Amino acid sequence: MARLNLQRADLLAERSYIAGEWVAGNGGAVAVTNPATGETIATIQGVGADETRRAVEEADRAQRLWRARPVKERANLLRAWFNLVMQHKDDLARILTAEQGKTLDEARGEIVYGANYIEWFAEEAKRIDGDIIPPPANDRRLLVIKQPVGVVAAITPWNFPNAMITRKAAPALAAGCTVVLKPARETPLSALALAVLAEEAGIPAGVFNVVVGASSSEIGGVLSSHPLVRKLSFTGSTGVGKMLITQCATTVKRTSMELGGNAPFIVFDDADVDAAVQGALQSKYRNSGQTCVCSNRLLVQDGIHDAFVAKLKQAVSEFRLGNGAEPGVTHGPLVSEKAAREVSAMVDEAVASGAKALVGGSRSSLGSCFFEPTVLTGVTPKMRVFREEIFGPVAPVVRFRTEEEAIELANDTEFGLAAYFYTRDLGRIFRVGEALECGIVGVNSGLISNEMAPFGGVKESGSGREGSRYGIMDYLEIKYLCVGVE
Ligand code: SIN
Repeated sequence: MARLNLQRADLLAERSYIAGEWVAGNGGAVAVTNPATGETIATIQGVGADETRRAVEEADRAQRLWRARPVKERANLLRAWFNLVMQHKDDLARILTAEQGKTLDEARGEIVYGANYIEWFAEEAKRIDGDIIPPPANDRRLLVIKQPVGVVAAITPWNFPNAMITRKAAPALAAGCTVVLKPARETPLSALALAVLAEEAGIPAGVFNVVVGASSSEIGGVLSSHPLVRKLSFTGSTGVGKMLITQCATTVKRTSMELGGNAPFIVFDDADVDAAVQGALQSKYRNSGQTCVCSNRLLVQDGIHDAFVAKLKQAVSEFRLGNGAEPGVTHGPLVSEKAAREVSAMVDEAVASGAKALVGGSRSSLGSCFFEPTVLTGVTPKMRVFREEIFGPVAPVVRFRTEEEAIELANDTEFGLAAYFYTRDLGRIFRVGEALECGIVGVNSGLISNEMAPFGGVKESGSGREGSRYGIMDYLEIKYLCVGVE
């Protein structure tokens, strides 16, 4: 039987992909571990700074030809890539679950979510329009054209090992840029499988490169400082994002940053309580709480608090924690033992300061990376579970009295990625929706991510937007031509 029960064993690639070649480097071995079992699934002979520099130079060479290809050809190649990803979604999901831990159902959902970005930007490639501006005098004409930024470095996280790549690579390629991708060290296999399919789709050598290595700082250092890289797009923590912005400043690169969040989830007294519980389950426990847009603090108004908490507790106690590859499991492990320890420390601190764990509250005997889905009540704004991104399956519930208090609590954070609220009052939908300091608001909805909508944050949650018709702008420069006429 093939490894991981794959139909296509070659999708499990164990080398970096540079300029159309599969490269084993001398940047140290990268062992990829299944967080549910602790088994090593693959070992990659990683690349280092020299090979990363070569990838950038090859991407620059390839970019000159790629940007000159008729846009329809670029669109057709992206469409071929999309078709192959969809054709092999079961294998891609198996690889993703094995390296990241999420359930197979969630992994299949992510593959389709990720493929949707490729499809969307294959279509958007044809809509990179310019402008003609009325001139100040009749002796000239003013034209605006949009051109690819150049070589793009993409640094992607382990929580969505597939979709965070396509969300950056697809608009970049559609715009005529080439890409050097550094996937997370924990989850490089999904990235390499995407490269196998990109090659098969006919995307030319050098246009999409994947560098995997043991030293993130070595590879990241080249990507953020090489003068040929004209843009860096990063999804990950705010701390690393700030460091990359500083490094990129020396060569004045454009950056897009999708960083940490601390999303409030507000339930007003007039909400449909069952819908609010459903939304909280989706937005809090998706990917076992490991998304930047996961609700991080559940703010619940006095009048509905007890009913909401009782229903939430019941629903969470019905979750089944386990190996995501097994049928019936609803929630998988966290990505690493370190992650489980950190979540545990935050919960212990909250409980020591007076919070109460209604369900869960501790690490699980299933394995070192597992943490029990948890509901905490009696949480206060001073606690770390309120102030910091938890990145685990823990829902801290805070009581509030008035709409003003809810908005104040919600905005009391340096982050500003997503927020959610539940109400049936139309006036409040606009008042609160406009007052929340964030880039994305879910109103009576716990699921806000899709390829047609702009994803991104304000404040220390980052800059730039991914997906939607706005997403391609992050990969385009505006050039103005002033044409003198007789
Ligand atoms: C993220 O966690 O960075 C992305 C989540 C999403 O796309 O919904």
